[in-house]
Amino acid sequence: MKLVIVGTGYVGLVSGACFAEFGYQTICIDKDIQKIQKLKLGKCPFYEPGMDHLLSKHLNETKLLSFSSSLTDTIKDADLVFITVGTPSKRLNEDADLTYVWSVADEIAKNIKKYCVVVTKSTVPVGTSKEIKKIIGKLVPEDLFDVVSNPEFLREGSAIDDFMRPDRVVIGSENSKSEKIMKELYRPLYLRETPIVSTSIETAEIIKYASNSFLATKITFINEIADLCEVVGANVQDVSKAMGIDQRIGNKFLNAGPGYGGSCFPKDVKAFSSTAKKFNIDLSIINAVDKANQKRIDKIGDKIMKHVKNNSVISFLGLSFKPNTDDIRDSSSIKLANYLFEKGYQIHCFDPVAMDNAKKEFNHFRYFESAFEACNNTNAIIIGTEWNEFRALNFSEISKIVKTKKIFDLRNIYNALELEKLGFKYYGTGK
Ligand SMILES: NC(=O)c1ccc[n+]([C@@H]2O[C@H](COP(=O)([O-])OP(=O)(O)OC[C@H]3O[C@@H](n4cnc5c(N)ncnc54)[C@H](O)[C@@H]3O)[C@@H](O)[C@H]2O)c1
Repeated sequence: MKLVIVGTGYVGLVSGACFAEFGYQTICIDKDIQKIQKLKLGKCPFYEPGMDHLLSKHLNETKLLSFSSSLTDTIKDADLVFITVGTPSKRLNEDADLTYVWSVADEIAKNIKKYCVVVTKSTVPVGTSKEIKKIIGKLVPEDLFDVVSNPEFLREGSAIDDFMRPDRVVIGSENSKSEKIMKELYRPLYLRETPIVSTSIETAEIIKYASNSFLATKITFINEIADLCEVVGANVQDVSKAMGIDQRIGNKFLNAGPGYGGSCFPKDVKAFSSTAKKFNIDLSIINAVDKANQKRIDKIGDKIMKHVKNNSVISFLGLSFKPNTDDIRDSSSIKLANYLFEKGYQIHCFDPVAMDNAKKEFNHFRYFESAFEACNNTNAIIIGTEWNEFRALNFSEISKIVKTKKIFDLRNIYNALELEKLGFKYYGTGK
């Protein structure tokens, strides 16, 4: 099978490299020419564990993976064309901005020469894939293409493993021909007995938003429980642990913290709710989740301000929205750092891989080469992202260089008693 992937971002590149690992000839396309030039040299444009190896293997050794900035030359032999472009929130409202998706659909329509399956892998509101079908159908006879929805569930930071060993694959199709081709595509996963869920196109589109919104709900739920724990002297980590042992609940996504962020949850929760509104359905739980999560930064910021004097210098450890990625899109850490900066605090920060991205957008922070350096002569330390390298910081040395011994462990990765022994005032989340 020959595959073309349009949009070589986190999802497109990981999918492309992993499909090459399955053994398929795969061409990744992007309109960003600089990105394609870098990729042709084997340079991954973002940080993702394992990507450099996979890229070099399939670019240089197997030669199954290649890159191009033109869809015209590449699509003519393709059996499957994947749409993996971004679907951010619109500026003016909470809808998903589908500009990139429509533009790719237009381009595909102009270039199809033989039968192929057009696969929507971007996260798109229900009804989008059928619209894509209409756009392509204006220029291409019906028997020359099918449209399928195949939402992606990978997580940045563990994207390759998630793609190669997914919990499930969802295939939304409207005929057995395209469904069969999709099942053939994912045949390498049969060995692992990966569940393949075959549905209608609309169901597949909803599955993706319902999954992300549910996970966002779990996070928001435990964050509110954390607020209550803090006031009554309970410990949210123990609450989560005991709740999570119950198999009906499960222990994942039950860690209290500064609220969900990243390139998916915030925009997907909003888009899900605004899509439902168009069908006169009020997703009231999802609306409440969105509101509560938006308030979270102010709530945590205000808590910090109560304990740290204005104009103080704060060490901010971790800027990416989660560990093992350099993605800072909608990162709670960045939002909190900005909130505090606007209130008059100076931000001294460090992140193992996300600083280059942060420097491009936020030149009002001061950046340091290590967590240790970022803690020098400051009034409080905030752990914003739970990078592994922040889990065992040498606090007995750090206690000698800070001005004031205060730590806000937003991710609850430290033991309060141990830090208190070193003279730190410790503030966890929900305990
Ligand atoms: N990032 C994740 O963890 C993740 C996980 C699951 C699903 N998704 C969904 O997958 C989609 C892609 O997300 P992402 O994070 O990979 O986005 P991204 O912003 O990292 O990448 C999108 C890429 O598409 C390119 N592009 C835009 N228009 C194009 C065009 N007309 N032709 C060629 N290339 C074009 C951009 O230049 C960019 O490189 C989104 O819908 C997102 O919600 C993302």
